[in-house]
Amino acid sequence: MSDLHAMAYTSIAYPMTQSQLAALLDGARRFNAEVGVTGVLLHHVGRFFQYFEGPEHAVRDVHGRILRSTRHHSLAFLLDVPIASRQFPAWYMGFCEPPVDEFQRIANAEWVQAMPITRTTMERSEGMSLVMSYWSRWVADRPARSPDDAGETA
Ligand SMILES: Cc1cc2nc3c(=O)[nH]c(=O)nc-3n(C[C@H](O)[C@H](O)[C@H](O)COP(=O)(O)O)c2cc1C
Repeated sequence: MSDLHAMAYTSIAYPMTQSQLAALLDGARRFNAEVGVTGVLLHHVGRFFQYFEGPEHAVRDVHGRILRSTRHHSLAFLLDVPIASRQFPAWYMGFCEPPVDEFQRIANAEWVQAMPITRTTMERSEGMSLVMSYWSRWVADRPARSPDDAGETA
């Protein structure tokens, strides 16, 4: 049986420069690569949305680091569930800055909270579909070799 787990949350960022944000991403990706956690981080004017997945113990370690971070506050968890397979196997922590309407649609979507859940429920949750759909459009349209390319697993 798979030991994979996923979490998602929104939070509010304390003011941060571009280089502080880049350093945060770098540290996050380094740790995630070490422990086998993948996912995406979305940022829109001072708000974060993050989805991350991996072996349960690794997800719990990352969760602890995120909770301890002094870079944000008002964390609201949307998802904390076992999963059958990874949704973002190619990204240690993909990062993008969606427009406000896309960000809000994802943050306000219906996410599955109840446990236990089936694979089908998870994959059909509105929030998951919106994140995956926005991410695949963003990846297809992104400028070639932008600095945001960092974070890919291969
Ligand atoms: C929005 C956000 C997302 C984060 N995502 C991750 C992550 O995916 N993996 C990880 O190991 N740490 C993550 N962290 C924690 C940072 O990597 C790092 O531990 C922390 O920023 C360093 O402590 P400090 O924020 O108090 O300076 C995240 C922090 C924030 C604010």
